[in-house]
Amino acid sequence: MFQRISALFWVLAALVSLNDAAESAWNGVVTPGASDPQPFTPYYLPSGAKSYDSSSPLLHYSGQWTDSFSSAFVFNTLRSTSERGASMTFTFFGTGIEWFGNQDQRHGISQVHIDGKKVQEVDAWSSTPLKQQRIFGSHQLRLGRHTLKIVNTGQNRAEAKGFVMDVDALIVLMVPHAYSTVHRSNYLDDSAQPFSDYPPLFSLASEPNPASEWSLVQEGITGVSAMQLTVISDSHALIFDKVEHNPLSIYGHPAWAALYNLDTNALKPLAVESNSFCAGGTFLSNGTLVNVGGNPVVEDHTSAADFGDLDGLQAVRIFEPCNSEDVENCIIYENHDRIRTTSPRWYNTVLRISDGSAMIIGGSRKGGWINNATVNNPTIEYWPPKNVAGSDGLQIHLPFLVDTLNANLFPIAFSLPDETVFMAANQDAMIYDWRRNTERRLPRIPNGVRVTYPMAGTAILLPLSPTNDYAPEVLICGGSTVDDTQPGYQISAQDPASAQCVRLLLTDDGISAGWQVEQMPQARHMPDAVLLPTGDVVIVNGAGTGISGYGNVVGQVGASNADNPVLTPVLYRSSLPLGERFLVSGMPTSSIPRMYHSVATLTPKGNIMIAGSNPNLDRTEVAYGTEYRVEWLNPPYMSMERPEITGGVPSLLGFSESVKLSVQLPSSAPANADVQVALMDLGFVTHTVHANSRLVHLVSSLSQDQHTLTITGPPGEGVYPPGPGFIYLVVDGVPSVGVKVLVGDGKSPEVNQTALDNLLSQTQVDQYEKSKKGKGKGKASSGPRDVQDPSLL
Ligand SMILES: *[C@@H]1O[C@H](CO)[C@@H](O)[C@H](O)[C@H]1NC(C)=O
Ligand SMILES: *[C@@H]1O[C@H](CO)[C@@H](O)[C@H](O)[C@H]1NC(C)=O
Ligand SMILES: *[C@@H]1O[C@H](CO)[C@@H](O)[C@H](O)[C@H]1NC(C)=O
Repeated sequence: MFQRISALFWVLAALVSLNDAAESAWNGVVTPGASDPQPFTPYYLPSGAKSYDSSSPLLHYSGQWTDSFSSAFVFNTLRSTSERGASMTFTFFGTGIEWFGNQDQRHGISQVHIDGKKVQEVDAWSSTPLKQQRIFGSHQLRLGRHTLKIVNTGQNRAEAKGFVMDVDALIVLMVPHAYSTVHRSNYLDDSAQPFSDYPPLFSLASEPNPASEWSLVQEGITGVSAMQLTVISDSHALIFDKVEHNPLSIYGHPAWAALYNLDTNALKPLAVESNSFCAGGTFLSNGTLVNVGGNPVVEDHTSAADFGDLDGLQAVRIFEPCNSEDVENCIIYENHDRIRTTSPRWYNTVLRISDGSAMIIGGSRKGGWINNATVNNPTIEYWPPKNVAGSDGLQIHLPFLVDTLNANLFPIAFSLPDETVFMAANQDAMIYDWRRNTERRLPRIPNGVRVTYPMAGTAILLPLSPTNDYAPEVLICGGSTVDDTQPGYQISAQDPASAQCVRLLLTDDGISAGWQVEQMPQARHMPDAVLLPTGDVVIVNGAGTGISGYGNVVGQVGASNADNPVLTPVLYRSSLPLGERFLVSGMPTSSIPRMYHSVATLTPKGNIMIAGSNPNLDRTEVAYGTEYRVEWLNPPYMSMERPEITGGVPSLLGFSESVKLSVQLPSSAPANADVQVALMDLGFVTHTVHANSRLVHLVSSLSQDQHTLTITGPPGEGVYPPGPGFIYLVVDGVPSVGVKVLVGDGKSPEVNQTALDNLLSQTQVDQYEKSKKGKGKGKASSGPRDVQDPSLL
């Protein structure tokens, strides 16, 4: 086993960002626009975790401590000290610990020790008084007995009016990793068995071959559950979650987005105004990321608390390019008055098309579960808005999204070299010519397999190469044959997933030849397919049974609609003949289930970041709990001598433009080494959709001395829609580290002002949030308008 559990300690960013708290909507006071206003505080006890009050006899105090009583404290009590050197010690059994207390101007700096080792100094000073704040959290302890000790240093920042340290409550966490869901009674037993892998269709046993050893390393935590993931630069990935009680905080409330440093595993929480639950996303031609759609405000039955978030159903969240390793000033911007979609979209797919804009496809008009005719939004629209096929900035009806009901959310979509768009949903597929607004229906996906939410497979556009004139071919793997017209009570978490992969060459000949069918070694629902620079595909994550979502079907595990996690990745070697493509030999098996709301992406380094899994309404620790741990799947080439791109990479790579790169080939490379250049879009990943994921082989030639590589940018916007990408040099199957470029001219996608004005005048802002009008910064100020919504026509 190649896993390594490393302890990583982090202080929550609330402690450094409190200057901004005065403007925040949260502050632990009253959430804005709440239908039933309640004080909001970060203290939260995930189910499966244990809370210990400050007054518990298990907490040992030394020095002078005083008790205070108020209904604002957890269990009404708080213990505090102003004595230098006073301490509190607590021994527990678990995998993590959180310390909650007050923060205000009188608070000072404490030292935190775990198991006798100082791990952190935390400053609990805050300009505004806050209650039930998470002062410290550690979430990656080895399962076992640990001791937390906090010591008052007597030190404080210059503006502090004291050096108070207090304890309101402690929470002991016990991530159910490596413990069988079935045998929950084994929970406290060190000898409990890990999750067993879902039974394979054929034996996974293989001859060990050190040259093909893959490794799986667990390191780092995401702080927010990784529901959506995209690499934004050489050093960082951006994670979006839904609104929930995540351990990572910002401005005194739980964060639901974060930047993850791929080199150091450090986290920076990001503030998001609206609920990004089940949004989609893409980069535009100018390198800006948009995150589109989401969920209504979380309240009432949709969550355990009102978080003061805004309606996300029509949100377009803007994240401007953030390429340096210092991400301090990178933010998410929203302004629903000016920047929004025409209509509500929950589970929409967002794709960059050949003009560098975002195509926003389908979704439901309301949050729920499986789509149906009442809530369906069978339209597409663009951001920025344009006038195409007479749309004048409004949405365009797409019959395909009506014909593919019910299991058609998060449609599969890829932009094709001829600038059209491939789409698949449910059991059907088509090619959409967006300029003419015409659909060309393709043969049905064979054998009754449904491939989109909540019967989700995963799809990839196979590498595009000049050697066959960039003939596009799609691969779709996994999914389910469960009948999508059945109610939840007729569907079981034990219904088997499909092992089928299908492949279609999107040329006239390929389409008449039809789908090629293959079987994966293990059935998978909700897998992720990740393209490697070598052109191979790694299929990872997913469940052997059940379907997507939580809380809907019979036999749920916890709240999960799926069970039997598939724990071993499989390699799909796309260029080998049918029957020889799947390889499991040498693949490590994880102990972490990754099912609904899990993700995986290629990193610039060339390994695969695997994160997420959260089939729950809110953060929980019961099976299958909210998963924050990150795993890194390392292909064998990660430990080999690798080629390097040492210089000459331009920030902009124009279409058909030739550029000379300085390169260093591995010392072992023969004179006739196979040299390939892969231009890759690493995609925006959510709900098994890897939007924009792409590998284009660039025309290249190596100088005689093997130190200069001349590469030529892709031939046009069809082959690579203008926008960001990474260049990997691949020598005899071993890739270099990828280097980021912006492909095209770097210009913003065209905004048609007439179309934008039309969108703004014809459509409503956040139309489902009647109770919340006028609240919040980016919030609607105008009332509902009496305009027919074109999608209802
Ligand atoms: C359609 O879906 C919505 C949202 O999940 C649900 O509230 C509604 O009951 C469904 N309608 C039908 C006819 O199934
Ligand atoms: C913008 O759209 C309008 C119609 O809404 C059209 O008349 C105009 O030509 C478009 N402008 C550009 C620059 O494409
Ligand atoms: C990219 O274009 C979008 C859409 O017009 C715009 O909102 C964004 O600010 C642009 N970003 C840059 C860096 O120009």
